[in-house]
Amino acid sequence: MALTVRKLAPNIGAEICDIDLQQDHDAEVIAEINRIWLDSVILLFRGQELTPERQVEVTGWFGEVGNLARPKKYRTSGHNDLPPGMMLISNVRENGKPIGNLPDGEMMFHHDMIHAREPHKATLLYAVEIPSYGGNTLFANGYTAYETLPDEIREPLEGRLAFHHYNYGTLRKGDNEGTPAFSEAEHPVFRTHDDTGRKAVYVNRLMTEGVVGMDQEEASPLLAALFDHAERSEFVYEHEWAVGDLLLWDNRCSMHARRDFPGTERRLMRRTTVIGNGPPA
Ligand code: SIN
Repeated sequence: MALTVRKLAPNIGAEICDIDLQQDHDAEVIAEINRIWLDSVILLFRGQELTPERQVEVTGWFGEVGNLARPKKYRTSGHNDLPPGMMLISNVRENGKPIGNLPDGEMMFHHDMIHAREPHKATLLYAVEIPSYGGNTLFANGYTAYETLPDEIREPLEGRLAFHHYNYGTLRKGDNEGTPAFSEAEHPVFRTHDDTGRKAVYVNRLMTEGVVGMDQEEASPLLAALFDHAERSEFVYEHEWAVGDLLLWDNRCSMHARRDFPGTERRLMRRTTVIGNGPPA
């Protein structure tokens, strides 16, 4: 089966057209989809009708399905009926409480699970209900950010580790919206991708706290300049969701953010992840 592929933005993203993910596909097609994904960083499949169970099966095309990091105690009611490893991202409320995680509004750029010792390599997000406007998700290519980084930012940070901290549920640094439960880890500021061998920026505005072995007075302006560079619009694809869209992204070489949307309208997405190959190099 020949796949029809369309670029989403000059520096990131591809859509695989004319494929029905409800159907089983042979190993060659799945290997080709994986190749296109590694080249494009994010992949879009439009118009899919996926049950939660089928989404988990499709997630398995890219590796082993990851578990939820957030402790059970802090999971919302919508998770009771979902397959293990699936997260509901939703502002829909029952008895005044959101049924899903990350319910409302804008979210800063971040890499999923960068706060874990062994971060998950991929995330798949499927749109079940979307508001009439807003709630777009933005994806920034970490390879191009690294490759175009001015020496005065890159050199002092090359070969160093950054420190990441995340209270589950936080949408903007310091918003105090997160749970008391958190996760922390140290990883290279510039990460070498274990499949492509390319280097990418691996720090972000939401979760990165500092640089190991560097004073905060030196690290903060360097990190701020690095975030500004990595979020530049030419590295970004902004996705305007339609019901039935499935997006797959590579957390090793991209970060993502979410735009605000009306709190009076329903947004409901299902998220699954793929585990990584151990601590980042
Ligand atoms: C996420 O960062 O996982 C959520 C993105 C979104 O809700 O669009």
